[in-house]
Amino acid sequence: TDRYCVFGHPVGHSKSPAIHAAFAKQTGEAIDYAAIEAPLDDFAGAWRAFVAEGGAGANVTVPFKEDAFRLCDTLSPRAQRAGAVNTLVLGANGQTYGDTTDGVGLVRDLEHHGVELAGMRILVLGAGGAVRGILEPLLKAEPASVLIANRTAEKAERLAADFTDLGGIRGGGFEAVTGPFDIVINGTSASLAGDLPPLPDDLFVPGATAYDMMYGAELTVFLAWAAERGARPIDGLGMLVEQAAESFFQWRHKHPDTAPVLAALRQSL
Ligand code: ATR
Repeated sequence: TDRYCVFGHPVGHSKSPAIHAAFAKQTGEAIDYAAIEAPLDDFAGAWRAFVAEGGAGANVTVPFKEDAFRLCDTLSPRAQRAGAVNTLVLGANGQTYGDTTDGVGLVRDLEHHGVELAGMRILVLGAGGAVRGILEPLLKAEPASVLIANRTAEKAERLAADFTDLGGIRGGGFEAVTGPFDIVINGTSASLAGDLPPLPDDLFVPGATAYDMMYGAELTVFLAWAAERGARPIDGLGMLVEQAAESFFQWRHKHPDTAPVLAALRQSL
């Protein structure tokens, strides 16, 4: 039985152990997957201790994704660009490889919902680590344009500048947002506080998609606002399951069927 875990702080609320247990059962893989609260000041030490106890890989969540990035011996190109790692893999040589699967998770979830990205005008709200992690897979899906809007405009401008080689991407403040958009993705942590970024009422084209990287039993503030304006609301629960499936693939080289796992998770909210 190979050992895996999710590192976070706090980590008690994490759904990753349940998701990976379901994947393991479905694919017949013998793995043990735990939740470990790493100390805020020594993530690297927690990873080394886990490896010493037979750990083969891990997921990394808030607030350790940058710490995980820094300790890796090798990185996937998308993790390199994101500056963050959510998946650690222990290599046969004892080296640590890091990847970030959040962006693939988002793109796959949108695909499963039948949302086309190619040729679409996309607005992304927020310019923090969560947004940096999704931009490469998003741009590779060849949208017509991506605008990043953020409370702190310079952060959005700087972030966009790091990705301009991958396609048409710009950044600015919320006041610079002029729609309409086909897809609006909320990657701010504003909904945690029940806040809504200041956005114009005519943000969406008819039939637009509103996506929140957060999720819950109820629609987030952003999704409720978007639904009132005619957009189709989708929360981030599917992204959570898809990023987990991609991590599972990195470790076990098997693709789990995510649909039943997502359905069970939805029921449990
Ligand atoms: P994460 O890793 O979740 O992305 P982060 O890097 O701290 O966390 O980024 C949080 C994002 O949410 C930022 O874009 C932040 O805007 P600023 O860059 O201006 O700080 C945004 N955010 C947080 N609270 C917000 C609020 N109440 N209204 C609007 N944006 C908010």
